[in-house]
Amino acid sequence: MHWRTKAHILAILSRIPAGSALYHLLQRVGGTNRLSPCEGVGRALELVEMTRQAESRIEGAVVLEVGTGWRPFVPMVFHLLGAQRIVSLDINPWLNHAYALETARVLEAQLPRISAATGLDYSILRERYRRATASQETLPKLLASWGIDYRCPADARATGLPEQSIDLVVSSNVLEHIPLEIQREIHSESMRVLVPGGLLVHRFNPGDHYAHGKGSLHTANFLQFSEKEWHWYGGSGLAYHNRLRASDYDALFEDVGCEVRVRRTRVDEKALTELKAGRPAIHPDYARYALDDLATDYMWVAAARPIAAATDQDAVDQEAAPSAKRGFAKSGMVTT
Ligand SMILES: C[S@@+](CC[C@H](N)C(=O)[O-])C[C@H]1O[C@@H](n2cnc3c(N)ncnc32)[C@H](O)[C@@H]1O
Repeated sequence: MHWRTKAHILAILSRIPAGSALYHLLQRVGGTNRLSPCEGVGRALELVEMTRQAESRIEGAVVLEVGTGWRPFVPMVFHLLGAQRIVSLDINPWLNHAYALETARVLEAQLPRISAATGLDYSILRERYRRATASQETLPKLLASWGIDYRCPADARATGLPEQSIDLVVSSNVLEHIPLEIQREIHSESMRVLVPGGLLVHRFNPGDHYAHGKGSLHTANFLQFSEKEWHWYGGSGLAYHNRLRASDYDALFEDVGCEVRVRRTRVDEKALTELKAGRPAIHPDYARYALDDLATDYMWVAAARPIAAATDQDAVDQEAAPSAKRGFAKSGMVTT
């Protein structure tokens, strides 16, 4: 299907009463909520690896996931790796019992891969999987067995969680779907709930999602449009994409006062070549960006709540915090 046809359909679905339910049905058939164990586990493992590179750990951590979506691969993998509890919240009720059951079922075949990627003994993973899948009759029972505290509808701007109660805030393929000013509030809220030295770990996709279908579209194609034109295609509604570039995210993370420990970007070489040739002509709103910034189609960031920002009272509270008792240093690094 041509991307404009798809964009028109999504724009219409976004504006009609039963549109959201219909979108959900279409997504189930061929969209982002189809079951893809390799991809789902691969993405979760990227968050795991970034956490490790940022010198923190998952074993024993209290985790907050922003944007659960349809398939709970991230919280389930984090549970298998020993997270104490995963609060996973979403503003939309995409997760259901059938999706959670399917996700849990396909994880079994992924245990050797998770073991190989993390170095965690296969027998430990197997035993955790066995225990997690012991009680699955209802969605609440299933999620409880996996240590997942699912909250929906819940807005990551106002989690209601206590200050300094979280060791890691994670998300996968979420930030590109949230407007800049809302993200600023989400990151500020994350900084509030994180322990000093706790981490934000986000992976996201700044590229044009309409380029994922067949055809010759590249991932910077959507940068040809004005804000007004993009509003119809993907600047509002179900297909919302903020079109922020990697440098915008850098500025945002700096603004909210976190300390970036891991930062990686992926440049879409096809987009870069096409942009150099002026295909398409980029809208003047994007003239100030470097070409490789415009052609960046993936980004990974792990950033810490600085220790220095903590007050003396924070330090006292931190000593008494559950994570400190579990062996986290104030820096969030492993002490053993
Ligand atoms: C593209 S989905 C990604 C879902 C999942 N992480 C995955 O990779 O499949 C983005 C999710 O973020 C959620 N979301 C958007 N804004 C949010 C907010 N302010 N608070 C919580 N969740 C939000 C959406 O409802 C949606 O489920």
